[in-house]
Amino acid sequence: MNVIIAVDGPAASGKGTISRAIAARFGFSHLDTGLLYRAVARRAIDGEDPVAAARTLKAGDLERSDLRSVEVSRMASRVAADECVRAALVVFQREFAHSDGGAVLDGRDIGTVICPDADCKIFVVASDEVRAKRRYLELVEKDPSTEFETVLYDLRDRDARDSRRAVAPLRPAPDAVLLDTSHLTVEEASGRAVELVDGAIARNRSRQSGNS
Ligand code: CDP
Repeated sequence: MNVIIAVDGPAASGKGTISRAIAARFGFSHLDTGLLYRAVARRAIDGEDPVAAARTLKAGDLERSDLRSVEVSRMASRVAADECVRAALVVFQREFAHSDGGAVLDGRDIGTVICPDADCKIFVVASDEVRAKRRYLELVEKDPSTEFETVLYDLRDRDARDSRRAVAPLRPAPDAVLLDTSHLTVEEASGRAVELVDGAIARNRSRQSGNS
């Protein structure tokens, strides 16, 4: 059985944490697709053409330690609006989705564009303030001069760009389940996601046994 789980949502909504919990619980492979756009952005900041960077992305590009900076986040949502950049990254993501043993991918367009036939689609949301606080706490650890207001502004700016772009905009798939993590602990949010995946696996099994 090859299970595919799509986890989408706006910046710092908790997608990554939830996806890692699903991967650990079910033994699935996990791909943080935001890293692909961040790696392209990093190379674009270094002077490369973003489309050329996307077409020649290497595993090592995803391992750079500076992909989570504010500068890279801003540039990531700019390069992600380019149709050719996105097209260059589709095949890798779809192949990953078919990893042996199941896969969970998190991003913005997994349930809508990359894996429209995913077994379970979760769209993770949280209030702007909660998301900005989470991101602020991550960033201030690395840079004590980080300001909450700037983080909140950047996050809203990036969500607006991601939602309004013409190609693969950030939006829930019609069959996605909305998971609001604003008032949930990490354990509660992960537990709810695991329940949703359990349900999807059970449905997948009964479909397969009905077909055999
Ligand atoms: O961690 P955070 O939610 O802040 O961002 P991310 O998932 O690392 O994504 C960084 C940026 O990449 C987003 O703001 C999007 O513009 C872009 N992205 C995308 O367009 N499609 C995806 N599947 C994943 C990320």
